[in-house]
Amino acid sequence: MMDADSFKELGTCMLGSEFHVHREVGSTNDVAKGLAREGAGEGTVVIAGVQKGGKGRFGREWLSPEGGVWMSVVLRPGLPPGDVPILTLAGGLALAKAIRGYCGLEVGIKWPNDILIGERKVAGILTEAEMDSERVHFAVMGMGINANFDPAEVFPPEVAAGATSLMVETGREVDLPGLVMRVIQELDAVYLDMLDAGPRGLLEEWKELASTLGREVRVRTMKGSIEGRAVDITPDGALLLRMGDGRVVKVVAGECIHLRYQEKDYKTERPS
Ligand code: BTN
Repeated sequence: MMDADSFKELGTCMLGSEFHVHREVGSTNDVAKGLAREGAGEGTVVIAGVQKGGKGRFGREWLSPEGGVWMSVVLRPGLPPGDVPILTLAGGLALAKAIRGYCGLEVGIKWPNDILIGERKVAGILTEAEMDSERVHFAVMGMGINANFDPAEVFPPEVAAGATSLMVETGREVDLPGLVMRVIQELDAVYLDMLDAGPRGLLEEWKELASTLGREVRVRTMKGSIEGRAVDITPDGALLLRMGDGRVVKVVAGECIHLRYQEKDYKTERPS
């Protein structure tokens, strides 16, 4: 069982200033939001062994059994509200780098923030922000990683079909405190660089790990579904789709589905 002492050797600049470790919660995002409203500092981390009301994107349930990493980080970036999508990309990049570096697995990022191994999802991010028209008061970045369990044993078949875990992919159990520390260290580095130097560096790295670019995709948006070839992301984190008639359309938010598997070098597909 993890406790706050498990993370003593963190060595980060900003994140991981405080750890709240729980055996079981509803949702770590909700706990972190409560702490943030009470003034919790930037970098406060909430971790739970089990979530009974884990939340995914689009109001979906996020199944969070024992053996996973369910954590949320309080951020106070002082950014304008329009920059929240970039924050989520920063989280996806940090998570992908942590899994790759710590477990030695090849991962891809499905826009905007699913971490895939092959075509199966191993981790996801839910960023929730409280803001006014001028600036973000705080954001809570929730990260869920399927780590030490087999989705086929604990998820219903329809969820298990699209899921994998670190244990399944590596054939062994992962040290959870070590993995959590690696995620926070990677996020600390990506986040600080973004605040200091802007999003350019993170976007370039994100594109290197993106499995969506170059692919035929369908994106379900609030206005309906749109299909095209994903050719790039914009500096504000939106996806650019090239339609059958050659038009390029910007998609700001939505659920992305990879339509066909194809080994393509997306760099040849991007408009110059
Ligand atoms: C998604 O891919 O739909 C996002 C999943 C985010 C899950 C994490 S687990 C920790 C944090 N607490 C939650 O309730 N959700 C996020």
